[in-house]
Amino acid sequence: MDASLKVLRDRQTGTAEFRRAAHTVCGQLMGDVRSRLQERGVGEHDVVIVIILRAGIAFLDAIADGFPNAPVGVLGLKRDEQKLEPHWYYENLPPISMEHAVVIVDPMLATGGSAEAAVERLQKRGADSKRIYFVGVVAAPEGLSRLAALIPRENIVLATVDDGLDEHGVIVPGVGDFGDRFFGYSSRAIIGSRYD
Ligand code: PRP
Ligand code: URA
Repeated sequence: MDASLKVLRDRQTGTAEFRRAAHTVCGQLMGDVRSRLQERGVGEHDVVIVIILRAGIAFLDAIADGFPNAPVGVLGLKRDEQKLEPHWYYENLPPISMEHAVVIVDPMLATGGSAEAAVERLQKRGADSKRIYFVGVVAAPEGLSRLAALIPRENIVLATVDDGLDEHGVIVPGVGDFGDRFFGYSSRAIIGSRYD
């Protein structure tokens, strides 16, 4: 895990290597959450996975390996990089009840605004906050505190908690923009709805 995190942190790492390292880390994290659920007697048929787009797609292979039969929902959230607030653009979820363990996956937990919006939406769709889990690669302490006020701390699985956020809401030392690096964008993404 540590070696792969080092690769992710290195801003010189290219797309292919970044994806390979992300695959390794996400695989281990999904293995951790699967063990945690098994210890609590939660079977795969009681699990719903929820990917926060776009960066959460990095977990897709690990989900298919660790939870091959679990339904997978997606929530489309994009953080406004000026206001540091998440904006909704998509939602497509399987049926969710209070009995489900709902596992949110998103590599980055920065201010925690996106995770908070996802948790609140999932509660509205029927999830019990005590049974919501979050799996992420890098967190800032600010985001972790915000999320731990909504779901149990022991339901939050992270590879690392870093030092904090810079003035642009970027995690320090972090990995930079996980989505842009995983998807191989060499400069800023064009966000459709701002131009349509
Ligand atoms: C990133 C990341 C989280 C969010 C974290 O996604 O994957 O969803 O930012 O920041 P927060 O904790 O301050 O809300 P982003 O909105 O950049 O979209 P992307 O996945 O399309 O890159
Ligand atoms: N989103 C990212 O991809 N990286 C950060 O450091 C913060 C939010």
